[in-house]
Formats: sequence, C-alpha cells, structure tokens
Amino acid sequence: MDNVKSYVEEHKDRFVSELIDLLKIPSISADSKFKNDMITTAEAVKTELEKAGCDLVEICETPGHPVVYGEKIIDKNLPTVLVYSHYDVQPPDPLDLWNSPPFEPVIKETALHPDGAIFARGACDDKGQMYMHVKALEYMTKTNQLPCNIKFMIEGEEEVGSEHLGWFIENNIEKLQNDVILISDTSMIAKDVPSITTGLRGLSYMEVEVTGPNRDLHSGLYGGTVGNPINILTKMIASLTDENNHITIPGFYDNVEELSAEERAKMAEAPYNEEEYKKKLDINDVYGEAGFSTLERGSIRPTLDVNGIWGGYIGEGAKTVLPSKAFAKISMRLVPNQDWKEISELFKKHFESLAPKAVTVKVNTHHGGYAYVTPIDNDAYKAASKAYEKTFGKTPIPQRSGGSIPIVSLFEKALKSKIILMGFGQDTDAIHSPNEHFGIWNYLKGIETIPYFYQNFADSQK
Ligand code: BES
Ligand code: MN
Ligand code: MN
Repeated sequence: MDNVKSYVEEHKDRFVSELIDLLKIPSISADSKFKNDMITTAEAVKTELEKAGCDLVEICETPGHPVVYGEKIIDKNLPTVLVYSHYDVQPPDPLDLWNSPPFEPVIKETALHPDGAIFARGACDDKGQMYMHVKALEYMTKTNQLPCNIKFMIEGEEEVGSEHLGWFIENNIEKLQNDVILISDTSMIAKDVPSITTGLRGLSYMEVEVTGPNRDLHSGLYGGTVGNPINILTKMIASLTDENNHITIPGFYDNVEELSAEERAKMAEAPYNEEEYKKKLDINDVYGEAGFSTLERGSIRPTLDVNGIWGGYIGEGAKTVLPSKAFAKISMRLVPNQDWKEISELFKKHFESLAPKAVTVKVNTHHGGYAYVTPIDNDAYKAASKAYEKTFGKTPIPQRSGGSIPIVSLFEKALKSKIILMGFGQDTDAIHSPNEHFGIWNYLKGIETIPYFYQNFADSQK
C-alpha cells in the first residue's frame, strides 16, 4: 500500500469532483417527494462501485428505499470485509440558514479546514465518508493490491431509523457473511487526534399529541375555563426532568450501565477543552445531568430531548386563540443494557399518566435502536489502530460517541461480526445542521488510511 499517498495526491481533484456530483442528488429519505432522487442516487452508487472494481453490484429492492449491494470476491479462502454506509441524507431545513444551497456543493476554506471543505447536505454524513471507501477500493483494485474480499451494503434509510434493513439482512444472511464490518459514519476527536469509535448510543424516538377542546377557541371567551393543550404539554415535558436534570420516568435508569471510576478516569484523559467547546457554540455555559462531565453527558449517559414542538398560531402578528391540539417530538438517547422498546413503553405509560383529565394524550413510537459498545482487544481494532499510526503518525484514542447508528447492534447479533467504526468527520462539520461540510483533508486522509486497514486485517487472519 506504499504508493497510496501518491495515488491520492495524483487523483485528488477527480476524487473531489466525483463526490460533488453525488452530493448534487437530493437523497432525502424522510420525504416521499424525493423517492426518484433516492433511486437515482442508488444507481449512481452502483455505477461508482462498478467503476471502482466491484464484480457484482445489485440494487436490492426492500419495502422501503433500495439497498445497494456490491462485492469483489478474489478468493473464497481469504477474509471478507463488509463495508456498511448510507446514501440517504437528512432534510436540509431550515433552508434560509444555508450560506449556499444544500444540493449545490461549493468548496470553501474554514478555520479548521484551511485546505477547503465541501459544503453540501450529506458531505460528511455520509456520502463523503461512503465515497472514501469507494475510492479506497479503486486504489486497491487499480494497483492490484486488494488483499482480501470486499462487500458493500449501502442503504437508503439510515436517517429514518433503518426500518427495512433488518428485513434485508435476515433475508440475505449468506450473502452478507463477513469477517469484519467496517463503517465510516462517525467523527474523530480532532484533526490531529485520530480516534476509533467504540460506542454508540441507542435511541427511542416518540411523538406525542395532546388534545383539548374539539376546535380552536377564542382565548378570551374560553381562556381560564378549559385546558390549553400547549400549556399542559409544556408542563408535562418540563416534569420529565428534575432539578438535577435526571429523567423522572419511573424505571428509566434501572438497567443503565454504570462505568467504574477507573473507566471514567480513562475517559477524562481524552483531549477536551470546555472553554473552546462553549466558544464554538456561542454558549455561556454547558448544561446537563448533575454529577457528570460534559464528555460523559454526551456519551455514557442517557438523555431526553424535545426535537420539535408545535401547535396554535405561529403566523405573523397575534391571533388570540386557545388551540385544540399541541404536539411534540421527543427523543431519548440510550446507553448499553437499556432496551429501547421497553423504554418507549415506560415513556408512554408515564406520559399518559401525567395528563390531567382536561385533555387526552396520544403517544406514538417512531423508531429506535440499541446502544453499542465494543472491546479493543481484537484483531480488527488492532488493524484499524495500526492503519491510523501509519497515516497520522499517532495511535488513535478509543472514543464512545453520543450518536446512534441503530443497525449496528443488529449486525453483531444477526451476522455475528465485529464492527469497526473508523470515522473521519469532525463534530463541528455541522451534520444534520445548515452548512454541513466535510474537510477535503479529512476526505483524502480517509481514502489514504482505509487500504492499510485491509492490509493489516488480512495479515492478521493469515
Ligand atoms: N452518522 C450518524 C451518527 C453519528 C454521527 C454517530 C456522528 C457518531 C458520530 C447517523 O447518520 C445518524 O445521524 N444517526 C441518527 C439516528 C437515526 C435513527 C436518525 C442519530 O444519531 O440521530
Ligand atoms: Mn450517518
Ligand atoms: Mn445522520
């Protein structure tokens, strides 16, 4: 793999322009208006996998958006790496906060990315990180250095909870057999501090609806006499956390994995500067559960957040109205041993019990997923670690992330595989936010590092 650096250097402009083409297609999985763009994106991914050297690429239909499957099998006796990624992206709203349109990629320099970053929805999450793997394959096949078999499973529903991927996996267990699953869909601690993600949080995503009177009412004629769903909903939400920001749902913490003092001390060694953290977000202080540091609050502790809340009059000017309904979307990030289905039930029961008789409450579960943690004393982790040592000149730090990739724990169960999370984004790349971007340096460094993982992993299996 010794010429990978020069290969990347030689082809970097093409690598960037090809990614830009992919970023122009609005593959928004949540919005059915973009169904055709989803198919166009899947087809583009298929073409790119074929060009990069896959022998077989298929667009596999599911009850939802299709999965792109690709493979290059060079020898059945060699180990097989399965790359998982997603070609779908989050909706770009609010559009007016973008400095350039989300599906018209532009390259701009930033303080963190002096070599330029590509600004577009999906640049970092996850088209950019997915495409690093396509280009790593191109390098290995064009230079005849692919040391093992490779499979790709690139789905189109990650951002909406991977609803049908479980179905796809159950139906393709044989086809998806592998020795390790490799994913680039996370971030690293800092550009000069490579890290391997060893944990992801689980998720339980709920939607609630509070109904009061059967129609919107004049807030003068009826105000003070009937329950206002927005007043009541906000009171109910406020009571879900106490003065220490502990979650008050009975049973919520029952199975939460507690880390030993030793593990917490190890976590605290990761480079982190709270002043900088606050400055980057323009906040005067951090906020969270009493008794835990910011790093802990964001990774090893469960949380509850309102993602959206609406109801009543929000147009221009003032309208005196007492609304009939109020709504909220509420998510809980979960940690190992919390069962998201159980937590969703606990939430539902508790939330219903909070409602005064003056209103009725409906609680629905959107989707969820289990948390994931992996040990670091295995061949796959060591292969990844050595790969970073080669290209960053530093041993990467294991890092538990606060984000979720719900399907990861299912991979482990259904395919009995180890999973390696080699992310090359930065937390400040604004994924899911306006002005999402991916540093060109990060993108190229990813392409350079991935082939060493293959080499090291294949060597370790001999
Ligand atoms: N790639 C992210 C998850 C992520 C990002 C993990 C950065 C660690 C670091 C993924 O695409 C994502 O956004 N997942 C969703 C869950 C899904 C069910 C919508 C999330 O975490 O909100
Ligand atoms: Mn992602
Ligand atoms: Mn995402």
